[in-house]
Order: sequence, then structure tokens, then C-alpha cells
Amino acid sequence: MSKMPEGFLWGGATAANQCEGGFDLDGRGIANVDVLPAGADRRAVMSGRMKMLACDSDHYYPSHEAIDMYHHYEEDIRLFAEMGFKCYRFSIAWSRIFPMGDEEQPNEKGLDFYEKLIDTCLKYNIEPLVTICHFDVPMHLVTEYGSWRNRRLVDFYLNFCRALFTRLKGKVKYWLTFNEINMLLHLPFMGAGLVFEPGENETQVKYQAAHHELLASALATRMAHEMMPGCMVGCMLAAGSFYPYSCAPEDVWAAMGRDRDNYFFIDVQSRGEYPPFARKRMEKAGVELVMGPEDLSVLKENTVDFISFSYYASRLTSANPELSKQTAGNVMASMRNPYLKMSEWGWQIDPLGLRITMNSLYDRYQKPLFIVENGLGAVDTPDENGAIHDDYRIDYLRAHIQAMKDAVNEDGVELLGYTVWGCIDLVSASTGEMKKRYGFIYADKDNEGKGTLKRSKKDSFDWYKKVIETNGESL
Ligand code: BG6
Repeated sequence: MSKMPEGFLWGGATAANQCEGGFDLDGRGIANVDVLPAGADRRAVMSGRMKMLACDSDHYYPSHEAIDMYHHYEEDIRLFAEMGFKCYRFSIAWSRIFPMGDEEQPNEKGLDFYEKLIDTCLKYNIEPLVTICHFDVPMHLVTEYGSWRNRRLVDFYLNFCRALFTRLKGKVKYWLTFNEINMLLHLPFMGAGLVFEPGENETQVKYQAAHHELLASALATRMAHEMMPGCMVGCMLAAGSFYPYSCAPEDVWAAMGRDRDNYFFIDVQSRGEYPPFARKRMEKAGVELVMGPEDLSVLKENTVDFISFSYYASRLTSANPELSKQTAGNVMASMRNPYLKMSEWGWQIDPLGLRITMNSLYDRYQKPLFIVENGLGAVDTPDENGAIHDDYRIDYLRAHIQAMKDAVNEDGVELLGYTVWGCIDLVSASTGEMKKRYGFIYADKDNEGKGTLKRSKKDSFDWYKKVIETNGESL
């Protein structure tokens, strides 16, 4: 019957390109996330191996309208307030503020939109948590500069940050520099706008791009601390610990290696330096990072204040390459764990894995954590009266919230908040589908883009309201 600590930030999370729509309104420019089609080609485009640098008429691009939060944000935030949200995490579309990315002056209409959205949150005492970059890069920066492989992106990103901090200081305390920064290694076009040329050394490009993002993150952290004393800047990891397939030391070692692929980013952002294992790995892979003379001291002196992460599932790996090929449905290759159930999309359901992941991250970094994504993507079918009885989602969330409570109350992990992913239905990042729904609020829109966009409450809406009301006591 335990509760969460006083002031705990319960809420929900979304990302601009997955919910806003209005992709060409009020001066917004096109971004990498707008040329990701729904359907069979999506994965190849996201990985950077199939070049799709503009939209064509053969594909459907779900971000263009999404659930049109651009025009519905007041109604949506009112519903969040009705659930009792203390916090709403959303991202700012870079190309709404800098349509091309390399302009000197921001697009005022873009800034106005986010200021109004934030004012709406504040009216309901909802703390905004802003993701500065949730995978998006203005397309012009991709085609003209090669995206994050080019160091000039650091300056463009910092101009973007300066515009945001100037306009939003005093209104936003919590900031995240990059969503799931480690996604760059797994889906480089979706995660960082990287497209590869045939024969190019992809590993070199990815790590160089990662260095530029890490540097940009540190410089943004410095700027935020200077311009907005008292603000809190966090990094963001696509988390989920790797389990070894067996107790064979080789499998344990393989699992440690896979975890380190991801920890590497957070090690730099939280501890301020490249860990020795990462240096060795890059050396072995022939990666030579090009750095400026000040880069290492910038990283060292500007570490993040808290560690945020997404958690959907744990992962499983083996040293045996034949075995480790058998993957379950996650973006990051993982074997099927026979002890776990799976979602309809093959994502393995492991609440205790959340407690394990929280403890691992807290042991490693000793900084407050923030769970900024967790939830179940499922098919919701309205009954004859239009009601959605999503007890499967309630079960998933109940078990994960219990694990989170245990990590805090039993293990002493410091946790700032918990925002459920896709608190209102939105477009799935990995598949481009609407059918993969996470929300407490149903948005009437289908995979083909049809629907009234009408919002309605699912059963989980009232359930989560009670969870928040009782500060986690009633699950
Ligand atoms: C995270 C992303 O990877 O997982 C979100 O930050 C994404 O953008 C979420 O939507 C859930 O994944 P999916 O593929 O089910 O939308």
C-alpha cells in the first residue's frame, strides 16, 4: 500500500511528429521524421539504407496529420488535467522553430505555438517536461550538411536551444537534450537523420555523429544552466537491461557488452567522459573521432542533472551468434525470453525488468532518475457503445508501477517522475501505425489516415486518475 514521495511527477508523454500533424503549417519546414512512410519501406528508410529524402505519392506519411494535436492541444491538455497529470512531456519540432535549420532568426509562429501549449499546461498546474530533440532534424540539414555527421549541426542545434530558452525561461524547469540518444546506433536515419552512401564506413559516421550530439548536449546543458538558473537538464536513454541467455560466462559477457553499447552515451553525458571500454571499442573498429581542442573539457564540465529513460522491455542475448539471431519484436535485437509474455507486437513484458533497470542505472550514475516512457502498445477495439475496455493496458501499467514503487521504496532509488508513453493515442514510431495504441485517451484515426479525430476516454483513463489521486497507493 505504499505511495510515491511527495511531489512525484505523474503524467504522460508524447513527441511532436507522432501527434501534432500540421507538418506544413505556419512556416514549419520538413524534417527526417516527415519522410518516414507507413508500410513495408519504413524500416529500410529509418535505418538510413533506403534513401527517401522527400515525400512521394506512392507512400502514406502518418506524421503529416497524426492526431492533429496542433489544433486539439487545448482539449487534450484539459483531458490530461482531468486525469490529474502533474507533468506532461512533449517535444518541440525543430523545423517549426527553424524550418531549414540554418536560419539565424527563429520562426515566431512556431515559438508562439509552444508558448501557448506550455501556458495551457501551467494553467492546470501541469509541469512541462520538454524534449528539445525527439529524433527530428530539419531535412535541409540532412541534404545540405549530411546531418549530425557534420559538426556544424552543433551550432544549429545550439541556435535552436537559445531560441527556446530565451522564449520559455521561467516557464519550463525540466529539459531533455535528445530523446533516446542511443537510437542513433540502431535506426540512424530516424534517430539522427543519417543516410549512408554505398561503401561508407557506417561505424565511423555513427560514432562521429554521436560525438557531435554528445557535445551539443553538453553545450546545451551549459547554456540552460547559464540562462535558466535552477533548471534541470537530463539525458534520455532507450533502456532495458540485457539478460544473458544462460549462466555460461560467455553469455554473461555478451550481455554486459550489449548493455555497454547503450550505457556508453549516458556515461559521457552523466560522468563527463568517454569510458575506457568505449575508447577501446572505437579503436578496434578503426573509428577515429575528430574532436575540437575543447571538446573533452566541455563534456567533463557540463554533465546532466538527471537520467531519464524509456522502458518497455528487458532484452536477452547470447554469445552464440546462431542463437542471438532469433529476435523478438523490439527495435534493438533481442532474443525471445521464454519466461516472459509478449505484446501483440512481440515486445516482451517484464515489470521486474524495470526494477532491475532502475537499480542498474542508479547504481551506475547515482543521479535522480526519471521514467519518461513506459506503456503498452495494443489494439483497442471499441465495443458497440464505443467504449474501450483496456484491462490489458491497466494490467501492464499496474505491474510496472508496482515495480517502480519497489525500486523507490524498497531499494532507495531516487525517482523524479513517471510519464506514460502515448498518453493519448499517437502514431507508432517503429511501425508508423495508429493501430498500435498506448493511450488513456482514444483518438479516432486509423492506419490509412481515416477517422474523425474525436477523442474519448478508455477504461484506463479513470484507473490512472485514481493512481495519481492516491499518489500511487491505489493500483
Ligand atoms: C520510443 C520512442 O522508442 O518508443 C517513441 O521514444 C516511441 O518515439 C516509443 O513511439 C514506442 O515505440 P513504438 O514503436 O511502439 O511507437
